[in-house]
Amino acid sequence: MDAFADTLIGWYEEHKRDLPWRGETDPYKIWVSEIILQQTRVQQGWDYYLRFIDNFPNVKALADADEERVLKVWQGLGYYSRARNMHAAAREIMTVHHGQFPKEYDKILSLKGIGAYTAAAIGSIAFHLPYPAVDGNVIRIISRIFGVCEDVAQTAVVKQITEICNEQIDRDRPGVFNQAAMDFGAMHCTPKNPLCEECPFFSGCYAVKNNLVDILPIKKKKAEQKHRYFHYSVYLSDNKTIIEKRSENDIWKNMYQFPLTETGSDDFADTPVFSARETLSHQIIHAHFYVKSVKKLPKLSGNQSIIDFDNIEQYPMPKIMTMFLRGISAYHAYLHV
Ligand code: ADE
Repeated sequence: MDAFADTLIGWYEEHKRDLPWRGETDPYKIWVSEIILQQTRVQQGWDYYLRFIDNFPNVKALADADEERVLKVWQGLGYYSRARNMHAAAREIMTVHHGQFPKEYDKILSLKGIGAYTAAAIGSIAFHLPYPAVDGNVIRIISRIFGVCEDVAQTAVVKQITEICNEQIDRDRPGVFNQAAMDFGAMHCTPKNPLCEECPFFSGCYAVKNNLVDILPIKKKKAEQKHRYFHYSVYLSDNKTIIEKRSENDIWKNMYQFPLTETGSDDFADTPVFSARETLSHQIIHAHFYVKSVKKLPKLSGNQSIIDFDNIEQYPMPKIMTMFLRGISAYHAYLHV
């Protein structure tokens, strides 16, 4: 599909949005618009863009301003580190680059707060550098049209999409190509209800042909990691201790542990003698161990038993238990002196 860029730009010429930074060639203003658009919709971004440029019309004005004033103008946009990074980068441009916005991709990329997407957007729009600006819109249109059927949360898959863009980008008009892709994704090939019937790519689109428009791009949600707080009571009485078998349908089923109280935080009645953390695929276990030397062991519940402390290694135990036991062996020996 070597006409991809022509088709895309053809669509763009007819449908492009009228935005205040459209047609802009000043890298500073393109930079400001791209940073603002990373965190806000075009409608709201429009007002902030005009206000920001009004207050700081060029790199020097931004570099000369107090950080507080920059933050004040940014107020309401959120992600204040972006404003601080821009301010720092403006100062870097004044000192390191003698007030000239750098024209090479690698130098643009090295500025504070500028990543691959922003460097490509500025580089292509201001300096015609042939780098694709791969944002969420571009990921969506490329994965649908070219049939990238793997999880786009993976960096290798984004790299694959970037390579497709590198092949397809219009080397004479990379800035137009990039903005056309962004507008096409935002207005036409939308996440929900894309306008497939009137799409110039309809006949060649992989997703249309394979009935995958609602499926692509594939985004596997990273399961949220849940934090759990385990408090273990290590009873000691004449070299005896209590262990219990985990029987619930939960992690570490059928393995052994000291009597456990699970709570919602690190806090517990006592001070732990040992703490450790274990990261599982979907959970982070914060474990705390409390040693209780007692004359008489407490009453057992159903899944508990009394064992010789020295025999504990015979029982299958989660790693967090062995971590404690290794740590405690010195302490245990000390108790027996
Ligand atoms: N989203 C981010 N940058 C954009 C741009 N330059 N044009 C349209 N949409 C955008």
